[in-house]
Amino acid sequence: MVEITRAFITGGAGFIGSRLAVSLKKAGVDVSCYDNFLPQVHLGNTDTRRILKDAGVEVIVGDVRDADALSLAVSRTKPQIVYHLAAETGTGQSHDFPVRYTDVNVLGTAHLVEVIRKAGPDVRRVVLAGSRSVYGEGACVDQAGQLTPAVERLPKDLARGDYAPKDKDGATLLPVKTNAECVVRPASIYASTKLMQERVLRQGFWGSDVDVGVLRLQNVYGPGQSMNNPYTGVLSIFCRQIMEGKTLNIFEDGQITRDFVLVDDVVAAFVAMGCAASMPSDVVDIGLGQGITILDAARALLVALGQDPGRIAITGNFRPGDIRHAIADNTRAANTLGWSPKVQIHQGLQSLADWSRAYNRVMA
Ligand SMILES: NC(=O)c1ccc[n+]([C@@H]2O[C@H](COP(=O)([O-])OP(=O)(O)OC[C@H]3O[C@@H](n4cnc5c(N)ncnc54)[C@H](O)[C@@H]3O)[C@@H](O)[C@H]2O)c1
Repeated sequence: MVEITRAFITGGAGFIGSRLAVSLKKAGVDVSCYDNFLPQVHLGNTDTRRILKDAGVEVIVGDVRDADALSLAVSRTKPQIVYHLAAETGTGQSHDFPVRYTDVNVLGTAHLVEVIRKAGPDVRRVVLAGSRSVYGEGACVDQAGQLTPAVERLPKDLARGDYAPKDKDGATLLPVKTNAECVVRPASIYASTKLMQERVLRQGFWGSDVDVGVLRLQNVYGPGQSMNNPYTGVLSIFCRQIMEGKTLNIFEDGQITRDFVLVDDVVAAFVAMGCAASMPSDVVDIGLGQGITILDAARALLVALGQDPGRIAITGNFRPGDIRHAIADNTRAANTLGWSPKVQIHQGLQSLADWSRAYNRVMA
């Protein structure tokens, strides 16, 4: 294990970043968070700032695109490890704002590379919050069980209710667990920027003393996720809609599958990677390793919040860039980091429901 005494987290006021910051601080690490408090994420929430302050985490308000401010922050705080979490995170929204997404996610990462290079020898590790979205439809097998790449789903198929992933000849494929051996095929601008982040970091520190680690996260959920950001975090969005008395709009036919992994498990993976005796040089996938359909997740949340599980509408709506199935193969995380998820989905959904009920009461 490597001992860390000073850490710097871009996006450290966000859902995952703030919990990582508090967890590191509790373990005795000096933590500085650098975050521009993007209104889309933080509007109406002063909780995070207070939680970070109470924990003794330094909060620096700044934008990753502001190279001077970022440089000043890194050179002053002298971290040994930089966790890079700052990002624009909406898959569907990225389709509408390609410049904004590329600017923050790609250019912001390029600034970080130059800033760390300039900062001197302190920074030895950079860990990126990567995304499973880089796999697009992910690993699939054909009817004979052979691994076969899925092509992007087409709007014309989705519009007539044909949602299954297909091979290049149009044959239906079956999804299987995906890992970093799978070919990358980003299906959205967000996903493309997340892949670029990986590459900019790896190539930017090639041949240097800075080790780069990448965790490709599945859908992270749990207490603390923004309830106001309409573009990300489907389970938090559902919680808010349930408490507003709305009927839940379930996209496609409700059979979209996601691998939801609780934020506390993800934080443990970031800590494990930061402290690993040797940084895994390959990408590490992080998920629960099990899928649940969006329909079942919505029903479970309705039940957890004491509501009628039938308060749903399966609308056939679909979004550009959405993929059909996602399930992580966590084998490498277990082998290289000794990490495996601890919290099963129904337990995690209950903790999200309990938190969102309490949060709603406080904010009301
Ligand atoms: N939550 C998930 O399901 C998930 C899945 C895969 C990958 N990730 C990645 O994990 C990271 C954190 O995600 P999250 O769920 O905590 O999202 P989040 O939106 O809660 O946190 C992101 C933080 O980055 C900040 N930020 C945005 N633009 C910035 C900029 N220009 N300069 C500085 N700060 C900026 C925001 O204010 C926010 O606090 C992101 O990189 C995301 O791509 C998240």
